[in-house]
Amino acid sequence: MKTAVITGASSGLGIELALAAEKKFPDIECFWLIARRAERLQETAGRLSRGTLLISADLSTEDGLAKYRSALEREKPDVRLLINNAGFGILGNVADSDPGGQAGMIDVNIRALTVMTAVTLPYMGRGAMIVNTSSIASFCPAPRMTVYSSTKAYVTSFTRGLAEELRPRGISVTAVCPGPMDTEFLSVAGISGNSKTFDTLPYCDPKKVAEGTIDAAAAGRVIYTPKAFYRFYRFVAKILPHSLVVKMAKT
Ligand SMILES: NC(=O)c1ccc[n+]([C@@H]2O[C@H](COP(=O)([O-])OP(=O)(O)OC[C@H]3O[C@@H](n4cnc5c(N)ncnc54)[C@H](OP(=O)(O)O)[C@@H]3O)[C@@H](O)[C@H]2O)c1
Repeated sequence: MKTAVITGASSGLGIELALAAEKKFPDIECFWLIARRAERLQETAGRLSRGTLLISADLSTEDGLAKYRSALEREKPDVRLLINNAGFGILGNVADSDPGGQAGMIDVNIRALTVMTAVTLPYMGRGAMIVNTSSIASFCPAPRMTVYSSTKAYVTSFTRGLAEELRPRGISVTAVCPGPMDTEFLSVAGISGNSKTFDTLPYCDPKKVAEGTIDAAAAGRVIYTPKAFYRFYRFVAKILPHSLVVKMAKT
């Protein structure tokens, strides 16, 4: 069955990505929605008109990833679209932060995304697409979100490398690099009211980001940065030394 797999589908950008994918790809028959909160996945499923399979799983754990692997082995889907979107950040200096939380970001943003990709690839054929949710934080280290920005630098770098590896197989890989969005991300990260940078930066609309991302994936683009303001930031971070840009990137 032609399938789209979406992690982080219980909230924010993940919901919008599911809706945008449904609109863009009428041939996809089933949406696999993955996150920890089952009741929230039900709500997302209720907004889709195609078939769904809900996998309530904590992707930071071996058990969570095993749940997904078993579903793949059981259903043997034809995965046309894999969206690795689950992720979270934590605001604060490394020295003042709980080491478990820091490691948790690595587990979800890096480890789960990598394992999800590796175990799904055998079920993907020519014309299939992978989308990884990265961030503008991937363009330069962001002090006070140092671990988070480092995980997203991995996501962007992983995307570039994988896109090249999979080109001969006709599978595209796209990283979306949004700026701040008003989602649960802000409260999960402890950002709300605690970051001048987040108070000043222009916000991205998750629906527009999702639609742009799905279009970019369909067009086979490797990096998609919504909003001219952030494309300019990406350019600045590319041409100026990071020792300079890192001062502006402080969250
Ligand atoms: N909002 C922003 O400012 C912003 C900017 C740039 C990039 N991003 C990135 O955009 C992506 C989506 O974030 P969002 O803004 O939509 O935030 P969100 O509303 O908090 O959504 C995060 C999603 O990830 C899932 N998730 C988190 N930890 C998980 C785990 N251990 N296992 C399984 N699922 C997990 C959450 O589901 P459950 O809680 O139900 O598990 C939720 O569906 C993230 O990768 C984030 O880093 C966000």
